[in-house]
Amino acid sequence: MFSSKLSLLVLFVPALLSLAAPAPELEVSSDLVARQTVDTSQHCGQWDTVTAGSYTLFLDLWGKDGATSGSQCSQITSLSGSTIAWKTNWNWVGGSGVKSFSNIQLNQGINKQLSQIKSMPTTWQWSQSTSGSIIADVAYDLFTSNTAGGSNVNEIMIWLANFNAGPISAVYNSDGTPKPVASNISLGGHTWNLYSGSNGANNVFSFLPTSGTITSFSTDILPFFTYLTQHNGVSTSQFLVTAQAGTEPTTGTATLTTSAYSLAIN
Ligand SMILES: *[C@@H]1O[C@H](CO)[C@@H](O)[C@H](O)[C@H]1NC(C)=O
Repeated sequence: MFSSKLSLLVLFVPALLSLAAPAPELEVSSDLVARQTVDTSQHCGQWDTVTAGSYTLFLDLWGKDGATSGSQCSQITSLSGSTIAWKTNWNWVGGSGVKSFSNIQLNQGINKQLSQIKSMPTTWQWSQSTSGSIIADVAYDLFTSNTAGGSNVNEIMIWLANFNAGPISAVYNSDGTPKPVASNISLGGHTWNLYSGSNGANNVFSFLPTSGTITSFSTDILPFFTYLTQHNGVSTSQFLVTAQAGTEPTTGTATLTTSAYSLAIN
């Protein structure tokens, strides 16, 4: 199937080139087939989705009505093998709640029991430009359930950045800051504090870096799950039903550019 697509491409490329004149930006490169099949246009609708390879871009502007004004647009910029690049720009004014979770979801390898997963290699390289101060996070958001495809029981977040936001927590310090249930945990080459609480529907476990922002992350994230099964009562019989990574803005103006993202569940 792949080779027949290639031969079709060989037949049609000369025709495309002759139609599109002048077209200096047309590159006949080895990744033309992969890039050609991806929708790289900008999407701004509340529930827009774009599927590319084993990933789906979700606009997921679920909390937009809580803003007094604002908008958000996202696009995939490239897909090369299992590495996807994308960006989202947002401007949200007013309201104290999260406005959206625009994210890249992995569609392959999910619905496995935690005990059956051997590794979850991931890479996430990103940068962000902002105008003024913002409230947002940049995070993985993963859900487990009692059954494959079932309703969420546990939400596991791995934050790479916390811009004036805060995790869900059942316990707070006297100064009003959330109190971790465990501190200084070494996982994936970084040090984390773990927060735990309920969002009303499921348990939420949030790993936050003890300091700074992680803009280049490349590790196996299975040990984050192993930590929770060993210390926090998450059962290894839970099924990993959703694996997403994106940003949760509350207010401000920013463009988050992911130059490389990949995740696999083995
Ligand atoms: C975590 O590590 C920091 C820096 O070494 C230290 O100051 C702090 O006391 C540690 N926290 C706990 C709860 O052990």
